[in-house]
Amino acid sequence: EAAEKGGYDHFMLKEIYEQPKAIKDTISPRVTKDGKIKLDDVSLTKEDIDKFNKVYVVACGTAYHAGLISKTLIERYLNIPVVVDIASEFRYGEPLIDENTLMIVVSQSGETADTLAALKLAKEKGARVLAVTNVVGSSISREADDVLYTWAGPEIAVASTKAHTTQLVLLALVSLYMAEKKGTISKEKYDEIIKEIVELPRKAQSILDNTDLIEEITEKIYKNEHVFYIGRGMDYDVSREASLKLKEISYAHSEALPAGELKHGTLALIEDGTPVIATITQSKTYEKALSNIKEVKARGAYVIAVTQEEHKEIEKYVDSVLYIPDVIDELTSVLAVIPLQLLAYYVAVNRGCSIDKPRNLAKSVTVE
Ligand code: G6P
Repeated sequence: EAAEKGGYDHFMLKEIYEQPKAIKDTISPRVTKDGKIKLDDVSLTKEDIDKFNKVYVVACGTAYHAGLISKTLIERYLNIPVVVDIASEFRYGEPLIDENTLMIVVSQSGETADTLAALKLAKEKGARVLAVTNVVGSSISREADDVLYTWAGPEIAVASTKAHTTQLVLLALVSLYMAEKKGTISKEKYDEIIKEIVELPRKAQSILDNTDLIEEITEKIYKNEHVFYIGRGMDYDVSREASLKLKEISYAHSEALPAGELKHGTLALIEDGTPVIATITQSKTYEKALSNIKEVKARGAYVIAVTQEEHKEIEKYVDSVLYIPDVIDELTSVLAVIPLQLLAYYVAVNRGCSIDKPRNLAKSVTVE
């Protein structure tokens, strides 16, 4: 097993460090030299795409968080409403699905029982199903109409890392691909985002090359039993994933909140030294999120911000900053989650937890 870990203490750490390559392997076969997306493995025609008037994205756990982030991109570029649902909720609800619905299921293993059942239900109702999965030949890949693989390679640690970031880039490619076919995205925007997508592996690597500060911050927060994550829009989605990571492997209680919602209850829990981890990357909501940071700071919170290098002024308002390289707003989630995966990892190391196999959890959940 030590050999399989390639010199890392845990599979989770190894897989975090594999992300630049996993992202590159997922992108490279799908972006041509002249910057066009080609999804040879998908049979969706322009006619199919024009027909869709609604998209459902359904998944569990970390894959669900990737789905949440894709909603913003799909709605923005395709101009159609997206519903993101948890598979175990979706299948017992009354989803409004028909032959004009595109259903995207996201699953690392391709075997999660609830996600598979949701897929079957959507197909029965006539939806077109596209699966995003990491395992070739998995049940979900076999049942779906179309399959796109995240080329992350085998993921061993229960807490998902490289599968998540590859899901994010693949979902971004799918939304751009469909928008281009549908004619709902300008050529400039399309070209700009592709250019940025191609840069992601290098930027992810630069985060991983410099982790001293993350380890240092961990020393300050690892004993806390309650940690809060805040953000707005896609930053809230990143917060949800980061919070799940911490819970899964460190057993600290954590909660993610839309930053603007704090004042409706959770602010009452903030006291001297409570760790609040704020992801603040979106220009549209930057000032508003900064006000929320000031609110928790005024109540004594120990605030760690995750933002792009261009926002240096944030140092005046928080205790620590984890910088990610400058990147277009639509793609910040791919980078912002990486220091937060590492933060969760080092908290769990400090707490002496069983990182690759947390208590009570399984890598692939085939019970309902
Ligand atoms: C389990 C795993 C999670 C994963 C979730 C969904 O709970 O521990 O890491 O996100 O299942 O799994 P899937 O294979 O469908 O992505």
